[in-house]
Formats: sequence, structure tokens, C-alpha cells
Amino acid sequence: MTWPQERARFPVLDRHAYLNAGTFGPLARTTLAAMAELRAWEGEHGRGGRAYFDEMLERRERVRELLATQIRAPAENVALTDSTTQGVHVVVSGLALGEGDEVATTDAEHFGLTGPLLAAGARLRIAKVRQAKTADVFELIRAQVTPRTRLIAISAISWLDGKVFPWRELREATQVPVLVDGAQSVGSCDVDATAADFYTVSAQKWLCGPDATGALYVRDPDSLRPRLVAYPGAETYDIAEGTWEPKAGARRFDTMFAPASSLAGLETALTGLPDGRFEHARELSERCRRLLLERGHDVVTEPGQGNLVSIRFPGDTAEAALALYERGVILRELAGTGLLRASVGWWNDDADLDRLAEGLTALTKR
Ligand SMILES: Cc1ncc(COP(=O)(O)O)c(C=O)c1O
Repeated sequence: MTWPQERARFPVLDRHAYLNAGTFGPLARTTLAAMAELRAWEGEHGRGGRAYFDEMLERRERVRELLATQIRAPAENVALTDSTTQGVHVVVSGLALGEGDEVATTDAEHFGLTGPLLAAGARLRIAKVRQAKTADVFELIRAQVTPRTRLIAISAISWLDGKVFPWRELREATQVPVLVDGAQSVGSCDVDATAADFYTVSAQKWLCGPDATGALYVRDPDSLRPRLVAYPGAETYDIAEGTWEPKAGARRFDTMFAPASSLAGLETALTGLPDGRFEHARELSERCRRLLLERGHDVVTEPGQGNLVSIRFPGDTAEAALALYERGVILRELAGTGLLRASVGWWNDDADLDRLAEGLTALTKR
């Protein structure tokens, strides 16, 4: 298939310059159809019966394999979650992080990572990297690692401006376990999670999956205690005796039975992803940066980072995002930062970028 044919799989792109995969990816027609078909079946035949349940369990394992492939990890090390946030909770609770435990992190994280760390009562040492150059980020984070640090918890790619964070190098240099927030990396670029101790996946974003789907990579499942436990994580249990056996590997960390229709949608979304998609998205992102710079916008994203292109907007970003939306350009305003963020995926094209640039120029001239 050509890129225009790939693009045509997403109905939203018929009308909109959709640049919002950092929040929610576009949904393909096939993904929507798979979900609708299963929902209709459930309505007609009921969410029950042996065949229905068996098929759902088998699909879970196929989806686990597909998600594992996305991060080049064995399926045995991948748990199914509903989000990055939930994956972080599994790790934070499993490590029993609490008062007195130091965690090195940054001021450019999403609340989905920082929130669970704060709720656990961990002592955060926060590297100030928001305004820093990418080249300085390693030293800034390393400076927050002390002999008491139990965990380094950072993004693979910052949600604010696409900065790539050096989690692998930090792991090597400090030997401290690393929890990587992969919300903005998985599906947007080639990911190998296996050097991390823990790596989260948000499948609703760059993988174009249904809402509330995700995964967690755990390198050594036996070393993390399952605490956020749920029915699919149990191999056996005895309520009367008050005992249970967790499943082998990372399956013990499965946090829920995702809706069968969501699994069907996710399986479809992850099947037949085009070769060359990461390179294509990279080229488009660089073009987006150049275009916005040429038009005089204050682009804060450095070259060669993730596929998020952020600009500092001289005005009310909420109003700007709304005005762009009315022109059919869908992006994200990052409340409280003065930034507008365009997420550039392999489904976008030059015309989307032109519409973004024209829309922004029209707004700044008002
Ligand atoms: C870097 C980052 N981490 C975490 C999250 C939260 O993701 P989820 O909704 O999958 O928990 C987001 C969502 O925007 C994000 O950008």
C-alpha cells in the first residue's frame, strides 16, 4: 500500500488534519468495524457462553504477543493493563515504594507517572529539564541519583516537547532500576524495551488502539510483588483457605479483563502495520518543524527528537486550540505551559502540515 492508501484507512483524516496521537491516535475503519461487530454480537447473543469466553482469552494472548512485538520483548514479560498510569501503579505498589524511598525523576513528566509516585509517598528528586537542552538532560537526571535512589522514573519521550530522555544510558551508568513511561514512544518510533526494568505502553495513542488499552513490560517478573492484583493474574486461588498462586511471568500483573470489543479493536489495529512507518513519521515531523520555523513560529522541539512538535504560542493556547479545531486542525494545548503540541504520525501527510502552519499563521496575525 502507498502512504495515501494507508492514510485512507482512517476516516478522521478525510476531514481533519488530525495531529493528536499524543493524546489519542486516529482509529482505522477496520478497528472501528472489529469493535462494532463484536459489540453487535454481544448484544444479540449475550456476553456469555464457553466459546465467547474462550475466544476472548485466546485473543488476550494474541494481543499480548502483538504488543510484545511492538517493544521487541518476549510476551512472557508483558502484562495487559488499561494505561500507562495503571502500569506505573503496578510497579510502584509492587516495589512497595513509600516514605523514605528516593525516586529520581524530572519536571517534564506527565501526572500519569508522577501521580502514582506522589501517592505512594516516595521522596522525589526532580531534575529540572523542562527548559534544558537535550544534550544536558543526562547529567541533570544523574545528578538526582544518590545511594538511596530505588528507582529512576522517566519518560522515553517527553510529552511536552518530544525530548528523548536517555533512560538506557542512565540505567547503565547508575545500575539503578529504571521505570520508563513509554506513552509517547511506543508506536511512534522503534522501541526496544528490554534494557529497562519496567516499560509502560499506552495503546490508545500512537498504536491507534481503543481507549483504555495498554501494557507493561517487566524484565524480571519474579522480583516484583503483584499487589494491584486482579482475576486474570491468578493461576489458582482458594477463597475459603485464603490462598492464591499468581500466574507465571508478567501475566500475574494483568490488571483487568479488557472489554472483548476493545481487544478485538486492538488486535486489528496492531495487525498489518506498515513497514517504514517510523521513518515516514520522522520525516514528516522534521518537515513540520522546518515549516513552522520558516513561518516564524517559536518551535521549542529540537531536531531529531520524538514526533511531537511543540510551539510556544503568544496568546491563549486554549482559545488557539479551539480556533484551530474549527478550521479542522486537531492538536493539543498543554494547559499551563504556553505550548501547543502537534503529534505527527505515519498517517499524516504534507497537506496536514500545511493546514497546521496556515492555521497558526492566521491566528498569530489576528
Ligand atoms: C508521557 C505520558 N505519560 C503518561 C500519560 C498517561 O497515559 P495513560 O492515559 O495511558 O495513563 C500520558 C498521556 O498523555 C503521557 O503523555
